[in-house]
Amino acid sequence: MDIGSGAGLPGLVLAIVRQDITVTLLEPLLRRTVFLEECVEALKLDNVEVLRGRAEELAGKHVFDVASARAVAPLDRLLKWAMPLLREGGELIAMKGERAADELAEAEAQLRASGARTAELVTVGHGKVEPPATLVRVVAGRAPERARPRRRR
Ligand SMILES: C[S@@+](CC[C@H](N)C(=O)[O-])C[C@H]1O[C@@H](n2cnc3c(N)ncnc32)[C@H](O)[C@@H]1O
Repeated sequence: MDIGSGAGLPGLVLAIVRQDITVTLLEPLLRRTVFLEECVEALKLDNVEVLRGRAEELAGKHVFDVASARAVAPLDRLLKWAMPLLREGGELIAMKGERAADELAEAEAQLRASGARTAELVTVGHGKVEPPATLVRVVAGRAPERARPRRRR
């Protein structure tokens, strides 16, 4: 799933180049979901679902293998939104610019709180795009709150 797809980046592009996967484009703004639906129809893509809504509203309703996000929110907020939507071992791929390392350091507490298994910086696109893109890749573990639900007394 692509959180905050906007005009379709990166989710629509992923859906075009990876016809073997199903991509959910999540976007709260109506005019943007209408645009995305028009794109899906014009491009005749049958592996895309356009969903209108906010990431934080989907917890407990949907589970995904991978969540991508570009230019949507700082990493600590993205973790709060995305981790409850990922299966154990699923990945958050956040496309970040030059502040990626700083955001990763600043999100340390949230990484622990959300039960992330690993978090790393990855650069991709060497020799294809200049500068290469910097991603933060976070692998979801079992979130502590999911692993040990609070008992009501
Ligand atoms: C700056 S745009 C980036 C759009 C696209 N990802 C790109 O890189 O061009 C941020 C998008 O995130 C969406 N957004 C904001 N808050 C959101 C939330 N809580 N859940 C899902 N999408 C959100 C906005 O509506 C907007 O389309």
